[in-house]
Amino acid sequence: MLEEVLEWLAIRADGIYIDVTLGAGGHSAAIAGRLTSGRLISLDRDAQALELARERLKSFGATVTIVQSPFSKIAEVVHELGIPKVDGVLADLGVSSMQLDQGARGFSFREAAALDMRMNTADELTADEIVNRWSEREIADLLYTEADEHDSRRIAKAIVRARPIRDTGHLATTVAGARKHWGRQRLHPATKTFLALRIAVNREMEELGQFLTRTPAALNSGGRMVVLSYHSREDRIVKHAFQESEREGTLQVLTRHVIQPSEEETATNPRSRSAKLRCAERV
Ligand SMILES: C[S@@+](CC[C@H](N)C(=O)[O-])C[C@H]1O[C@@H](n2cnc3c(N)ncnc32)[C@H](O)[C@@H]1O
Repeated sequence: MLEEVLEWLAIRADGIYIDVTLGAGGHSAAIAGRLTSGRLISLDRDAQALELARERLKSFGATVTIVQSPFSKIAEVVHELGIPKVDGVLADLGVSSMQLDQGARGFSFREAAALDMRMNTADELTADEIVNRWSEREIADLLYTEADEHDSRRIAKAIVRARPIRDTGHLATTVAGARKHWGRQRLHPATKTFLALRIAVNREMEELGQFLTRTPAALNSGGRMVVLSYHSREDRIVKHAFQESEREGTLQVLTRHVIQPSEEETATNPRSRSAKLRCAERV
């Protein structure tokens, strides 16, 4: 949703922007390309993503500053760089195609790999710890609350019985065997289990909550916040946080209805089909 992101950010050539989810650098490159005297700060918690994006953004020189940080620390990053306020912040949540495609990182059930799923490989908690050590009850609760998995109890029981779970392939087949009726579903039977594990390993909901509460204070008046989310729980959190800030008088919501990708985009990029964009402006 590159065009939509640029449109809603309403980029000024002399503005200061933060892309808190640099990933492969696609959005950052497009933003930097619209700046003259402006500046872009790009964050990611994944050191590998930063390395690749650094190469891609090299030609923008001092216009772009790359920082390894979780986005919950946006206020600290801005403060350390000596920037008083910014004109726009973009968050494109979740994992990148790059992370999904690097089988060894364990985000995908399509190939057998270590049960890792950490975006920042220096973090302690891994998917292996959850799958092989958490209690059946804790796993069931995680699957139900984070991914709305209705077979959570059956899956948790099957996981605990199959221990030790060796890798992502073993996990995917264990989950598939525990599901009741999944034959007619579009999604792989382990999709929700993998999503819940990834969310827990990376404390994604805590990160998002802190980001949404702290960002309005970092924006100049008229500065915009654009958030792209990919599943309904995440989108609900964004929607409610924006509404709460609107009640408090710090943000005005600009997208009364969520913005979704065009049919053309979903046809060429199937991964974009669940994307939801919301935008709010600092009052
Ligand atoms: C969907 S991708 C972003 C893709 C990017 N917009 C592009 O154009 O290539 C999400 C990225 O956000 C990073 N990320 C996710 N949660 C994060 C967090 N809490 N703090 C910092 N980075 C995070 C991931 O490591 C991943 O690289």
